[in-house]
Amino acid sequence: MTIYLSTVIDTPGAFGEAERVRSAEDCALVVDDGVIVARLDAAEAADRFPEHEVVDLRDGILFPGLVDTHVHFPQVRAIGGLGMPLLEWLERCALPEEVRLSDVDYARAVAGDFVRGLVDAGTTTALVFGSHFPDAVDALFATASEVGVRVTSGLVVSDRILPEQLLVTPERAASASAALADRWHGEGRLRYAVTPRFSLSASDDMLAACGGVADDLWFTSHVNENPTEIVEVGRLFPEADRYVDTYDRHGLLDERSVLAHNVHPTAAELGVLSERGTAVAHCPTSNFSLGSGLFPLREHLEAGVRVALGSDVGAGTGFSILQEGLQAYFGQRLLGPEGRPLAPADLLHLATRSGAEALGLAETVGDLSVGREFDAIWVRPPGGGTLRRLVDSAVDADDAVAKIFAVAGPSDIAAVWVGGDRVSGATSESTRGSMTEATPKRRTN
Ligand code: GUN
Ligand code: ZN
Repeated sequence: MTIYLSTVIDTPGAFGEAERVRSAEDCALVVDDGVIVARLDAAEAADRFPEHEVVDLRDGILFPGLVDTHVHFPQVRAIGGLGMPLLEWLERCALPEEVRLSDVDYARAVAGDFVRGLVDAGTTTALVFGSHFPDAVDALFATASEVGVRVTSGLVVSDRILPEQLLVTPERAASASAALADRWHGEGRLRYAVTPRFSLSASDDMLAACGGVADDLWFTSHVNENPTEIVEVGRLFPEADRYVDTYDRHGLLDERSVLAHNVHPTAAELGVLSERGTAVAHCPTSNFSLGSGLFPLREHLEAGVRVALGSDVGAGTGFSILQEGLQAYFGQRLLGPEGRPLAPADLLHLATRSGAEALGLAETVGDLSVGREFDAIWVRPPGGGTLRRLVDSAVDADDAVAKIFAVAGPSDIAAVWVGGDRVSGATSESTRGSMTEATPKRRTN
């Protein structure tokens, strides 16, 4: 057993339920075999567990691990292509880079960059858009498994419009997806997601083939991101009622489905998503960078559609889900009275608990309650820096959370754990000791 002592901040409960974060100073999380088995104050922990190893993290704040519900593995080296709308950006920046992953050595190197980028930014769970090449998807799963991050991913499939090298027949898409799913789905922290790129590049036959791959798998794709894309999908699917229906007609939407963007939905489409229990990955930096639009969060919530955050690397500008939270906040501000104001507790929820719920992992991760696995990030800004001063002078925990979302980047995340395993950063020897040595630094609330 290991005891982690820190200020622990999280947001258990439903989105919007609590106005404020849950915060506990001098809190002891007792972790056994990766699972939080007790949560109590440090003084009590010293009485009950005097001889157990202690990791003293009171010089920072513990948040639950961050959850990224939409991020592209083959696009790490395409980040920063600014100045284009979606379809031009795909053609000029994303797709040429994705073609390079046909070389498996290149794909392995990119997988290494990608997984490191995720965990160093504090992401412990991600729904990852894979590659069009099965060997590259194998490389991603293998790297994620070595590092220990929770990844749901799959082979991206398309049969039209994209560069020739990225196309397959529906039959080949189904058999290659099934083979990868057999190999990886349920292996440790890995799961498989059936992944047509988007209806623009996937014919009705391709979407039907996706619907035929085993139905205990996850499903992800894009929807309603850009007005030109939406008009073109309407033209290609004259028999479908709008974009969402192109997936729904093949039984692809349920509570194990996550659609990215949905910046321009109709009320009827929101009704379908709500009925199916499908979640939406809101990707603010991508939406701003490509000029896709302002996300109608209030309409999603009022329709009962679940929403979480995605970085959408590489249209998104980086791996930080804290940054996505901040940009989500900005977007809602810009919508004025039509926006949904986001309090610090809402931002932390979107970045953690909402993501866990969208990915069906609400029982396992998303907050730091007893019974959850210890997926956590240690936010510890360097001494003498702006964020350290801001956090040290915060009036309360919500204020500290606001400051962290406003200013923090990956360099402020000093350590990251998944299921009790440290996957990034270091906790120095001086933070380790036994409970009898760890005298409480502050009084517990
Ligand atoms: N729609 C289809 N492919 C993509 C992609 O790679 N990025 C984004 N943002 N949208 C897409
Ligand atoms: Zn995307």
